Amino acid sequence: MRILLGITGGIAAYKAANLVRKLTEEGHNVQVLPTKNALEFIGKSTLEALSGNAIDSELYSDVQNVRHIKYGQEAELIIVAPATANFLAKLAHGIADDLLMNAILASNAEVVICPAMHTEMWLNPATRANVKTLQERGIRVMEPASGRLTGSDSGPGRLPEPEDIIGFALAREGFFTGKSVTVTAGGTREAIDEVRYIGNSSSGRMGIELATAFRNAGAKVTLVACNIDRELPTGVEVLRASSIAELELAMDRASDVLVMAAAVSDFQLDKPHRGKLHRGEKLVLELLPTKDLLAGYAANHQESYCVGFALVENNADVVKIATEKMWDKGVDAVVGNTVSTLGSVDAEVNLVTKSDVLHKSGTKSEIAQWLVLELQEILSNT
Ligand SMILES: Cc1cc2nc3c(=O)[nH]c(=O)nc-3n(C[C@H](O)[C@H](O)[C@H](O)COP(=O)(O)O)c2cc1C
Repeated sequence: MRILLGITGGIAAYKAANLVRKLTEEGHNVQVLPTKNALEFIGKSTLEALSGNAIDSELYSDVQNVRHIKYGQEAELIIVAPATANFLAKLAHGIADDLLMNAILASNAEVVICPAMHTEMWLNPATRANVKTLQERGIRVMEPASGRLTGSDSGPGRLPEPEDIIGFALAREGFFTGKSVTVTAGGTREAIDEVRYIGNSSSGRMGIELATAFRNAGAKVTLVACNIDRELPTGVEVLRASSIAELELAMDRASDVLVMAAAVSDFQLDKPHRGKLHRGEKLVLELLPTKDLLAGYAANHQESYCVGFALVENNADVVKIATEKMWDKGVDAVVGNTVSTLGSVDAEVNLVTKSDVLHKSGTKSEIAQWLVLELQEILSNT
């Protein structure tokens, strides 16, 4: 695809180099168009070398080729990342005072904007109003990520990771467009006393990758995050839950697809201790089995396509256990994997459905994208 990548003069402009690299690696022809101020933050040579295309930000050079019209007309997609507050204001008012602004105004291509700035600038009423104006005109504006900003402070305003920008920018009308998907991720905690809990070592990575892959496929995603301390994807609704009771409440919503990637405790105390237990005599805890949230959800939401996860010991028969779990819980599919995948970047999974068993290994990101495609295949045939 021919992509016009506008880069404006924010501190995150240096991150655009990675974005250019990844877009070209995916086979896109990227014409980079930095503003003059962007070139205060990143070198033109870096962008030329990575994109393989010459760059000239000057509006009045190479005039015989009328480049602002040429760039605007040739582009199949325009991405502006990072987009400054200044750029948002200029585009909202149709100001055409440099090559990038002129090219965008002269184009019929879809425009995707990824703002990045200090939290106060992002939340400033002027910026909010400009974003609203642009969205009302059909321009897609990606929510900035939250986290460490230029100095020591943090908050919303960071430029999202290149993979997320590409996923957001290239998400197209597709099978999952308009469909709702709920993904649960992480691990629950059941109180023993007011400071201790029964937990598990689920990192939440698989659920995060799944939420990202569904979002990129156009779905309206709700991510129920249980005790996850890693960065969550932008562009999805995030609900936080800690205990089983909180998770049950958060996930109890009508959804076209539910993917239960969260590791839910199998045991809980009948009555957690009030206050803090002290060291001393031997302590015996009586643990009761917990409610089966997935089976409960599948019974109450028969319109949803429900996918469970089965985590089994390394040498166990994954497919057999996943198949039993699918029938026992009354769900449509179960992804079986082994405990060795806990916390790791890679995984090996078996997708068990009522008619098939499919196998995949790779990074969790690759597996998530594969699962979304497989589910699309299954759902479009039902
Ligand atoms: C060190 C430094 C960092 C800046 N970072 C940002 C930023 O992250 N986001 C932003 O909107 N403006 C930022 N600015 C302000 C812009 O550079 C300024 O508004 C400029 O006019 C933007 O020009 P452009 O939109 O034409 O590229 C920064 C300025 C300086 C000096």
